[in-house]
Amino acid sequence: MSNTTFTMIKPDAFAEGHTGKILDMIIEGGFSIKAMKVLRITKEQAGAFYAVHSERPFYNDLCSYMSSGPIVAAVLEKDNAVADFRKLIGATNPADAAEGTIRKRFAKSIEANAVHGSDSDENAQIEANFYFSQLERG
Ligand code: RTP
Ligand code: MG
Repeated sequence: MSNTTFTMIKPDAFAEGHTGKILDMIIEGGFSIKAMKVLRITKEQAGAFYAVHSERPFYNDLCSYMSSGPIVAAVLEKDNAVADFRKLIGATNPADAAEGTIRKRFAKSIEANAVHGSDSDENAQIEANFYFSQLERG
């Protein structure tokens, strides 16, 4: 069990002004923000971040979507961070997301689903290192 996970507030949620409310839900969920920034990534950078999905039919759309506007990237800390954060964000498809989850409240579709959450301790480290230098992560 590790205490670190990585999240992004995705372009639609950022553009629609949901960042503050999503950050409130994250903090009220017991997470502390270790590092955070707003930035826009290129389609190529999105492709590198989501390389694990390169054979999936939604890969090209996903990379276009994630580079379509600014996002918030953040490193979060809490005991059991990866599993607890996946629970807080809810299922990938908002139609399946539980009441009270971030995706239930803010996701618009299976693609434009408001937030990202790491799926393992190993990927949390890889993803945090993709966006933040050692200095920024403290
Ligand atoms: P994430 O990585 O963003 O936290 O989401 P996840 O684990 O719940 O879902 P994953 O299978 O890793 O998929 C990554 C992202 O790709 C988009 N997606 N689109 N059109 C589709 O069928 C489809 N399926 C997935 C979503 O933005 C998803 O979060
Ligand atoms: Mg995933």
